[in-house]
Amino acid sequence: MRYLLGNWKMNMSLSQIDKFTNGIEQLKPNIFVGVAVPSIYYAYCYKLKQKMSVGLQNVSEYVSGAYTGEISAGMLEDVQADFCLVGHSERRQYFGETDARVNSKLKMLLSKNILPVLCVGETLEQYEANETRKVLNEQLTQGLAGITATDDFVIAYEPVWAIGTGKTATEAEIDSTCGYIKEIVKQILGKENIAVLYGGSVKSTNSAGIVNLPNVDGALVGGASQNADEFIKILNIFK
Ligand code: PGA
Repeated sequence: MRYLLGNWKMNMSLSQIDKFTNGIEQLKPNIFVGVAVPSIYYAYCYKLKQKMSVGLQNVSEYVSGAYTGEISAGMLEDVQADFCLVGHSERRQYFGETDARVNSKLKMLLSKNILPVLCVGETLEQYEANETRKVLNEQLTQGLAGITATDDFVIAYEPVWAIGTGKTATEAEIDSTCGYIKEIVKQILGKENIAVLYGGSVKSTNSAGIVNLPNVDGALVGGASQNADEFIKILNIFK
């Protein structure tokens, strides 16, 4: 399966969602197309959900109870969310999400059969210090602790320095790093051919060389997913 996922982050309004929804027409069969929306707009996206998958950007690591402001995996199941991001670098950076918390969230989603999209990636500092593989190894080893080969999830490789900056890694770097992630997942879980998406400043103008790389199974798109025309242009680049 190949994937084109959008991440609206803390953007969009009701009228912008209407415009986006009206702009979505023909999608491609055999490609999982979806967008991770702000949770308050999930219910409003019922029309969009008739056209593509709709997911969330975060989930609580707790089951239920006195956790003000949190949304549980059980609630995501209740409203039939199609997928949920876990461990996005902005959650790690601004909201203190550690690998241990990311692991708990991933398990919560799996327990409710919501497809988790586990986000991993190195910072600019780590990239410049040649620590990309070491960082990914740690994030995956800790993030996937207690997960089994039969669990269904997807990984998004997003170098933090490429998110929202207009910079992307080179195609050779993206391909070899996504290949490395597949190897690590095979080592940790014995799971073959895990889907690995690339994210970080993906747009219609640069995605052709990225989404069709041998080790890349799709893209996680932030800024460029807020506009239906641009999002569909990226989809049309998938071979
Ligand atoms: P960007 O965001 O495409 O705006 O760089 C990607 C992401 O954070 O998922």
